[in-house]
Amino acid sequence: MLKNRSVIDSMDLSVEEIDELFTLADDIKSRPNLYVNACEGKLMGTLFYEPSTRTRLSFASAMNRLGGRVVGFSDPSSSSVTKGESVADTARMVSAYCDIIVMRHPYEGAPRVASLYSEIPVINAGDGGHNHPTQTLTDLYTIHSVFGRTSHLKIAVCGDLKYGRTVHSLIKAMSRYEGTEFFLISPEELRIPYYLRQFMEEHNVKFTEVDTIEAVIAQADVLYMTRIQRERFFDDSEYERLKDVYVLDNEKMKAAKEDMIVMHPLPRVNEIDREVDYDPRARYFKQARYGMFIRMALILKLLEVGYQENHTRLTPTKYHCKNTRCITHFEKEPQQMLDMGGHHYKCLYCDYTVRIDE
Ligand code: CP
Repeated sequence: MLKNRSVIDSMDLSVEEIDELFTLADDIKSRPNLYVNACEGKLMGTLFYEPSTRTRLSFASAMNRLGGRVVGFSDPSSSSVTKGESVADTARMVSAYCDIIVMRHPYEGAPRVASLYSEIPVINAGDGGHNHPTQTLTDLYTIHSVFGRTSHLKIAVCGDLKYGRTVHSLIKAMSRYEGTEFFLISPEELRIPYYLRQFMEEHNVKFTEVDTIEAVIAQADVLYMTRIQRERFFDDSEYERLKDVYVLDNEKMKAAKEDMIVMHPLPRVNEIDREVDYDPRARYFKQARYGMFIRMALILKLLEVGYQENHTRLTPTKYHCKNTRCITHFEKEPQQMLDMGGHHYKCLYCDYTVRIDE
């Protein structure tokens, strides 16, 4: 049952629950009139502490198409954040007004904090360079719609794999499907974080790290392009050096399979040449539209009825998260480092993993 749960990580939804969302999204797409009043009387709070076009507007469109209403902010400078209000207190307040919260935040783990204080479901709409679970639902729904399955696929993921939250959530979610294989295309500086490498090893997922698109494009069923994200770099000269390292164009597409698809969470900058937009294998704009239908399905499932009663809290440990982008460095949240065994401790909020030898 998805009713009243928060969705913070792509692993918060089981494979069966994701299948149910696909079925519901298909029905919404083919019979939209049946759903126009489904959320009548319900209110969504959209709290966007970071810019967004697709995620914010697709959630707002989804709620409006279901007959619900939307309040919120897209510019935190117009909210009491500027007076120093914490994420925890903001979540408490908005849960007193609304029925569901959608939150995007630059700090990793902020939506997790909100979910611990909110009395209504919280959906993570992207937390820093960490996770973006509803983009992953969009991606999975697109893949399912094109191939009729989400298993036995070779996925090439290209670009900023270090800070790319859509990539992190996608890798976790796809790792549960049989026969998934990843080709991870990035410069050395933007390789996936350690915890995801560990995750794939634990789940026996085959992955290969390469430097170029050309090395793997002929084998891929899906080429998932991502933007090099200026906003995540500490050093702008480093961004300038890496920003155009990958550009997909028609020449490179010649080596791809006839039924391969190109995806991108968008926005794009230069990493897909505009000429590729006219190739029938380019699916990124359709992918963005699928995002609205799968978000409609998610809202319907989470809003069925009732309120969250319990919040799981863990006992704080003596260790502190060392990720300087973690929300726990900005708010007075108790540090919660989970003991993963073998002297490894993982932050509950941002997944940053450290080895601590006592
Ligand atoms: N894919 C995505 O998250 O786009 P926005 O940043 O525009 O929401």
